[in-house]
Amino acid sequence: MKVILILLTALALIACSEGPESPRGFSLPEGNVEAGKAVFISYQCLSCHTLQGVADSNAEQHLPKKVPLGGDVTKIKTYGELVSSIINPSHKIAPGFKREGYIDDDGQSLMRNYNDVMTVNELVDLVAFLQPQYNLKPFNRTNYPKYFP
Ligand code: HEC
Repeated sequence: MKVILILLTALALIACSEGPESPRGFSLPEGNVEAGKAVFISYQCLSCHTLQGVADSNAEQHLPKKVPLGGDVTKIKTYGELVSSIINPSHKIAPGFKREGYIDDDGQSLMRNYNDVMTVNELVDLVAFLQPQYNLKPFNRTNYPKYFP
């Protein structure tokens, strides 16, 4: 019985992820990392973000504290996630930033909307630049002592 329940739940989950809003079929053309860095700097992402290895800008700061991008993560940041974070920042607020100073009264991200100004090529390059800034942290395995019967 339990097994059937688990199977049904799994099926339901698969079914959901295949809806018209699923990321299935999403693919970006290859981007240019150097060009992406130039996009990152010219759109002044650094006025709200920090990124290791990229000097902070003197641009006016808009947030209580800058939101770090890149660094150690436990799960790969996919192109899809990065694109969503840029063109639809409020779809999922970055962990730890669902609070005053980072979202408005309606719970929307205070991140600037670039959709009317950024070209698709710029977006593709930007994502190619940002993705490798995330280091996948190796999974810390629990070392159980050997079992001697
Ligand atoms: C006015 C401030 C502001 C600017 C400018 C800004 N952002 Fe953001 N950004 C935020 C805030 C606040 C968050 C956290 C809330 C959220 O998830 O939207 C965020 C989140 C993100 C995230 C998700 C981070 C995560 O760990 O999930 C990415 C990626 C990102 N921004 C990229 C960019 C890029 C690229 C630019 C420049 C094109 C940019 N941002 C410009 C405010 C800004």
